Amino acid sequence: MALRQILKDNHPVLQSPTMAVKKINSGVLRLLDDMIETMQEAKGVGLAANQIGVSKKILVALITSADGEVKKVIELINPVCEKAEGEELGIEGCLSVPGQYGEVPRAVKIAVRALNREGREVCLEAEGLLARILQHEMDHLDGILFTDKAVRLIDPEELQSEEQT
Ligand code: CO
Repeated sequence: MALRQILKDNHPVLQSPTMAVKKINSGVLRLLDDMIETMQEAKGVGLAANQIGVSKKILVALITSADGEVKKVIELINPVCEKAEGEELGIEGCLSVPGQYGEVPRAVKIAVRALNREGREVCLEAEGLLARILQHEMDHLDGILFTDKAVRLIDPEELQSEEQT
């Protein structure tokens, strides 16, 4: 595994839609491993492949307990949101937009279909924070940043603690 550099928001790869993965080969598996290592090193809870300069439809996310302990790592290849219910505002940050936070409207509950690293189709239902993280990462894969959707940007000093995706 290797740490990769996280691109910042004005990079063209972050502003362009990614390509679907056609074949899950050793390069894709290595990419997943590197994404997880890079996300955890940066203390993020989600990362899209184009954030490390690879224009492929791959995201990783973490489910953590309140004290930050990692409970589960989620890896999704070619994710598609199939169902979205409700809407709520929440505060987001992004590893590619350091020091900025904003209030972003997201669906409360979603269902996502994707492939796992074995190439098997999985359907993941998520709500609350995980649903927000997955929507944020799927937006990355479409070349969209949270700052494009934020209804209000927030001064970092307003926040006591925050999570970066
Ligand atoms: Co982000």
